[in-house]
Amino acid sequence: MDSRRQPLMLQLRSAPARQRVSRRMGGQDMQTVAVIGAGQMGSGIAQTVAQHGMQVLLSDIDLAVAERAKAGIDTALGKLVGKGKLSNTEAEAALARITPVADYEPMAEAELVIEAATEKEEIKRRIFEAAGKVLAQGAIMATNTSSIPITRMASSSPDPARFIGLHFFNPVPVMGLIEVIPGLATSPDTVARTRTFAEKLGKEVVEAQDEPGFVVNRILLPMINEAVFVLGQGTANVADIDKGCRIGLNHPMGPLELADFVGLDTCLDIVRVLYNTTGDSKYRPAPLLMKYVEAGWLGRKSGRGFYDYSQEVPVPTR
Ligand SMILES: NC(=O)c1ccc[n+]([C@@H]2O[C@H](COP(=O)([O-])OP(=O)(O)OC[C@H]3O[C@@H](n4cnc5c(N)ncnc54)[C@H](O)[C@@H]3O)[C@@H](O)[C@H]2O)c1
Repeated sequence: MDSRRQPLMLQLRSAPARQRVSRRMGGQDMQTVAVIGAGQMGSGIAQTVAQHGMQVLLSDIDLAVAERAKAGIDTALGKLVGKGKLSNTEAEAALARITPVADYEPMAEAELVIEAATEKEEIKRRIFEAAGKVLAQGAIMATNTSSIPITRMASSSPDPARFIGLHFFNPVPVMGLIEVIPGLATSPDTVARTRTFAEKLGKEVVEAQDEPGFVVNRILLPMINEAVFVLGQGTANVADIDKGCRIGLNHPMGPLELADFVGLDTCLDIVRVLYNTTGDSKYRPAPLLMKYVEAGWLGRKSGRGFYDYSQEVPVPTR
């Protein structure tokens, strides 16, 4: 979905919606949130926002992907109902608040857009350039990037004062933290409204400066990368590396099972951003991590990473 698919007439038609939303901005309260990118993070964000009573417009590269994501959210909500954590009525109401959309034009209704597309800067920049043309004056543009500098990405938006990092953790409905990352030009009003939104989702907020990896990934990704070096050098196998960290460090998951959970392509993208933005060799990606990504072994989402997920119980692959 790029700006070439956004005919001028659609942009003009959305003007009344843009003005209506602009008038609501003073009220601080988000009613409609657009989520761009409906993979594991975008789906989790859409589900969480809908469960907290807001309308969600969900998009991806095409409508079918967004619709599949909504079907996945239906399944996830059904599991919560099965566990007694949600009533049937609440699940149905949350699902009904999610509308898959084919292009950006309906997002003129949104007070906040959260981009959760693939961790590639050129993809994210194109999204903000195109979506920025239809969003309401005053709408906040947030990116869920794990590592790409916010200030640099803000320059692709129509108004860097309304641009911010809003970094969720995976799985979004379960994890209790959000990092809020203002860029150089982000206004105090944007920071305050974003914090209010994050807290409305029931999350704790950590505010981080716009430095590579922010706080949590700056610490986590070097650990995951080092675990892959340890594996590649044959110091220990997958099961023992994870067991060592689970029991020895009291971590709930080992670094390799966590890497599979995050997605090995996403891990590699983040390590590369850390390496390229700092120039520090301590962040060089582990060769074995690059090989796994080249093989298409991306972790849980592809069915194989450091573990094989084809059986009921994941089986270590090395
Ligand atoms: N996986 C994690 O644990 C995690 C945690 C926090 C933040 N993030 C960040 O969230 C973002 C998404 O990660 P993910 O794990 O959901 O990845 P994913 O691969 O599951 O999903 C990415 C989605 O983006 C879509 N996409 C690609 N180009 C697009 C475009 N031009 N317009 C709309 N959609 C597009 C893809 O079709 C895909 O559905 C990344 O920036 C990642 O760094 C990931």
